[in-house]
Amino acid sequence: MIIAVDGPAASGKGSIARALAAHYGLPHLDTGLLYRAVGVATARSGGDPDQEADAAACCCIDDALLTDPELRNEAAGALASRVSQHPAVRAALFAYQQDFARQKGGAVLDGRDIGTVIAPDADAKLFITASSDVRAKRRHLEDSHADYTDILADILARDARDSERSAAPLRQAEDADLLDTSDMTIAAAVQRAIALVEARIRR
Ligand code: C5P
Repeated sequence: MIIAVDGPAASGKGSIARALAAHYGLPHLDTGLLYRAVGVATARSGGDPDQEADAAACCCIDDALLTDPELRNEAAGALASRVSQHPAVRAALFAYQQDFARQKGGAVLDGRDIGTVIAPDADAKLFITASSDVRAKRRHLEDSHADYTDILADILARDARDSERSAAPLRQAEDADLLDTSDMTIAAAVQRAIALVEARIRR
């Protein structure tokens, strides 16, 4: 079974995808981490994340980089959002993600284009969202030293870049179920996500 989980930053998609993977005993891939690794590698190499050739030259991701805590911070998210707009970068990461999705037994993948591009044939697709205010508050709780207004501005800029780019923009697949987690605890959102997947696979 392939489960595709897409949505904007801090919507809860990562936690939901991990919980679904544990529930169904499936491997999980956080595809955002791949783009974060390319973004950070591009910056560290002195390249310009907005230049396609610079970013495309940093797509051979080394496993050690994927465990680097720096990949988790907001700056890495912003770099990821800049390199991910380049078709050459998306093409370089495509086969790895598609192979992961198609492995025997299935998988759970989360990102921005899983249900639309990487696994359009997924058995269940969820599009997770939440209001920008709630998403910024969640990030602020994780990093209270950062300024709430700056976090909200970063989230809105990332939403705009991810949704308006021409290569695999963030959008809900036609056959995806929408789950708005704005007023939900993570436990309630996970229960709802499981119910939506169950309803899909029974159809
Ligand atoms: O999910 P996460 O916030 O880690 O993703 C970081 C950035 O990577 C996103 O803002 C988006 O620009 C990019 N991304 C993407 N396609 C994916 C996953 C992430 O373009 N499948």
